[in-house]
Amino acid sequence: KTQSLKSAYQEDFLIGTALGTEHILERNEKANVLIKREFNAITPENIMKSQLIHPAPNRYNFDLADKYVEYGQKNDMYVVGHTLVWHSQLPTFVGKIKSADSVRIFMTEHINTVAGRYAGKINSWDVVNEALNEDGTLRKSVFLNKLGEGYIKEAFELAAKADPNAALYYNDYNIEQPAKRKGAIELIKKLQASGTKIDGVGIQGHWSIKTLNLKDIEDSIIEFSQLGIKVAFTELDLTVLPNPWDLRGADVNQRFAESPEMNPYKDALPDSVQTALANRYTDIFKLFLKHRDKISRVTFWGVNDSHSWLNGFPIRNRTNYPLLFDRALEPKKAYQAVLNLK
Ligand code: XIL
Repeated sequence: KTQSLKSAYQEDFLIGTALGTEHILERNEKANVLIKREFNAITPENIMKSQLIHPAPNRYNFDLADKYVEYGQKNDMYVVGHTLVWHSQLPTFVGKIKSADSVRIFMTEHINTVAGRYAGKINSWDVVNEALNEDGTLRKSVFLNKLGEGYIKEAFELAAKADPNAALYYNDYNIEQPAKRKGAIELIKKLQASGTKIDGVGIQGHWSIKTLNLKDIEDSIIEFSQLGIKVAFTELDLTVLPNPWDLRGADVNQRFAESPEMNPYKDALPDSVQTALANRYTDIFKLFLKHRDKISRVTFWGVNDSHSWLNGFPIRNRTNYPLLFDRALEPKKAYQAVLNLK
């Protein structure tokens, strides 16, 4: 049997992970050994988001991003840039901009400066992130509100010019679900019809062991690739915890309260859930293998369970188990299951 995820899947697609600051700075030896052994693609979990890399007008923090890119190059990894245009984790000054011209200047300078700095070193950019609502319409944001729907095309054109070699992706969550998928397909078709370069779509893949819908995922892989673009799974994780949105009828404060019912596996994950997680990952990777010709990359949103954002979202201070490596950085049953498919 093959010894690592990246070698097991090397003929199929890249296997990636999101890196936090501690990984980029190599502060945790065991984690860094694991990252280099298992993964051949990396995404910066936060440090290239505009709030962090561009905190004030004309001020950029390139320190960590430079180290991130060096880390990828040194270790021969596929380096993802995440993300250029997103309504969230924006520097506060952007939300206060009044005129369309000034928003356009911000977006233009941001893309030119960030994508330009790493031109030739970033393999793919998530150019626009989460531009859609659940019903497939365009999400309100400072970009849509001030620039109109053309901002998406403008962003892709700026990115293509700043870094002609990077693969350019549209990235979003829940776009495997039919209504939102339809919106994503329209968005991509419009770009293509206007001659704008788009190379791929990133399906984030923040899913749940309970509600995983393989049919929607398979339909999406097929429909997106029929547009002539690659499909990447860019932020894969599987929550094992109850979903606050399922508590219908309860008021919002109650739904999102830090309560024992919403954090049932505080001390340990029962074997039955460990097995359910392994089975769901098996189902997902079987599907990915079936469509390996259409899929460019599968990236996990974090290295191991202690590093996952799902310990803090959408309810703070929970203990979640969404990844293939546990809190001690040891492989879980789900890891073996994914390897055993090869
Ligand atoms: C998340 C990070 O994991 C968290 O650390 C941060 O606090 C919020 O953002 N969609 C995306 C990612 O595109 O950038 C988000 O990452 C998760 C959802």
